[in-house]
Amino acid sequence: MTKHETEYKHVPVLLNESVEQLVTDPGGIYVDCTLGGGGHALEILSHLNNNGQLIGIDQDDEALEAARTRIGNDSRFSSIKGNFGYLSRLLPPEIHGEVSGILLDLGVSTHQISQGERGFSFQEDGPLDMRMSNLRGVSAHQVVNEYSYEDLRDIIFHYGEERLSRQIASKIIEERPVETTGELRDIIESVVHGPHQIKSVARVFQGIRIEVNRELDMLREVLEQSLEVLKIGGRIVAISYHSLEDRIVKRFFKAGNHQGKIEKDFYGHELTPIKSLSNGIIRPTDEEVERNPAARSAKMRVAEKIDQPEVQT
Ligand SMILES: C[S@@+](CC[C@H](N)C(=O)[O-])C[C@H]1O[C@@H](n2cnc3c(N)ncnc32)[C@H](O)[C@@H]1O
Repeated sequence: MTKHETEYKHVPVLLNESVEQLVTDPGGIYVDCTLGGGGHALEILSHLNNNGQLIGIDQDDEALEAARTRIGNDSRFSSIKGNFGYLSRLLPPEIHGEVSGILLDLGVSTHQISQGERGFSFQEDGPLDMRMSNLRGVSAHQVVNEYSYEDLRDIIFHYGEERLSRQIASKIIEERPVETTGELRDIIESVVHGPHQIKSVARVFQGIRIEVNRELDMLREVLEQSLEVLKIGGRIVAISYHSLEDRIVKRFFKAGNHQGKIEKDFYGHELTPIKSLSNGIIRPTDEEVERNPAARSAKMRVAEKIDQPEVQT
């Protein structure tokens, strides 16, 4: 085992379920938009024949390096550093319209959370950073120390779904400068009391992380662009870890747009470019959650790009 294999900690979630839904053609082209430690990527490769291809994308250098080391020399695999929000620009134009499957295993990896110095975790003290990529500028430090009261409050409320957003935002402003994850945690705990304190801390950290990485905007982008790069019959498998992400995926899979509004032609026929395949959501089994607690909030949805606008009679 190499140094990186032992160091990169992440157990792939819904591994068999996702790859079984994703790979419909063993000789097809697949894109893993969230390569991470390469757990899903290896499983996808094991379903492909010699004509198959897998392109892995990640914005985090450590993930790319870990996945490349783990997968090793496989001529069917290539990787790209970048943000999946720019999917159509990252992929070579000649494969646009040719891709058989796209995997999105959203959020951060266990590895990223466990590196205290990257500032994702409220369980480890570290600098306020939370950037998944060195491609992107705004850090958690800037959000916490420079954003206005209104912006902080809205991030905590909308992205963190935390009720005490006003009180927490005021307290953060009062305590500035805030340098570390430990200091931020203390501030939140000075405002929220009781048994749910730790959940509030997690929610505020989630809100700031979503803002720093523009996670919801990037998700909306990749969903739209996946329709450009997929072939007819190609699939998107999306695994999300909180309700904000899942809501975006659900709406898009229903209608092919972010309003969730099904367009109709003059005759009232539905014009949806996509069809949801998972009847509702697919969740990890109790056995998987027991083995890997990080899987507990996972929700998977699957959709397929469809040919002609579906005519409903
Ligand atoms: C949950 S982990 C994926 C784990 C992977 N499926 C595995 O089995 O090891 C999510 C990964 O996606 C990456 N990521 C998240 N958002 C991204 C984005 N907008 N663009 C590119 N990579 C992203 C993160 O850096 C992280 O490595």
